[in-house]
Amino acid sequence: MKKIFIIANWKSNKSQIEAIDWLEQAEEMEISLPENKTLVLCPSFTLLADVSFFIQEHKLPIYVGAQDISPFDSGAYTGAVNAKQIKEFGDYTIIGHSERRRFFNETDEILKNKVELSQKYGLKTIYCVQSKNDTVPEGVDIVGYEPVGSIGTGQPDSPENANEMAKYIKGKYSFVQFVLYGGSVIAENVANFTQQSYIDGVIPGGASLDPKNLFGIVENS
Ligand code: PGA
Repeated sequence: MKKIFIIANWKSNKSQIEAIDWLEQAEEMEISLPENKTLVLCPSFTLLADVSFFIQEHKLPIYVGAQDISPFDSGAYTGAVNAKQIKEFGDYTIIGHSERRRFFNETDEILKNKVELSQKYGLKTIYCVQSKNDTVPEGVDIVGYEPVGSIGTGQPDSPENANEMAKYIKGKYSFVQFVLYGGSVIAENVANFTQQSYIDGVIPGGASLDPKNLFGIVENS
């Protein structure tokens, strides 16, 4: 059975109380994941410690990831949260989400530094691209294909097109093992994507904010 990743991207949402409430609801749902599915929850930096302690203590089948990392190592970089700090609480990080590129002016060079640092500290990277124009840095093994027009719009890309893009990425970069699709994924449409032969999972944003919606996605994926 092929491996499926579900990367839940909370984006800039949730207070500490809301995050714990989400986790408590998830625990009550007594979810169990088949071995081929990996669920990664990516909250804001301020929530990483609480989320990761809760998951460990209550033995939930969820990995923790960050939504971004600093392009610098530790040092005099005010406001930045670096890969080594994130590794204390999580195993994954998203890098290059289109919202980072668009609202924070992140360039390919900045993103390349982030990828190098995530590799240095052993974080698994989900590297996002929007189209064939974005290049993938050497050594990235998980890529997220997220067309901008599909993010938060309720208008997902067609599964056939997403599959074609996933095939293209795997063909162009021999080091990429997994390609995920992101953009308006919900429980009702997730299977259309995960059934495609070149797609290895999904990145739900809005639908991950409610555990019922997210676990619907996990179940149907
Ligand atoms: P969405 O976001 O599911 O809300 O469209 C996906 C993403 O940006 O990762």
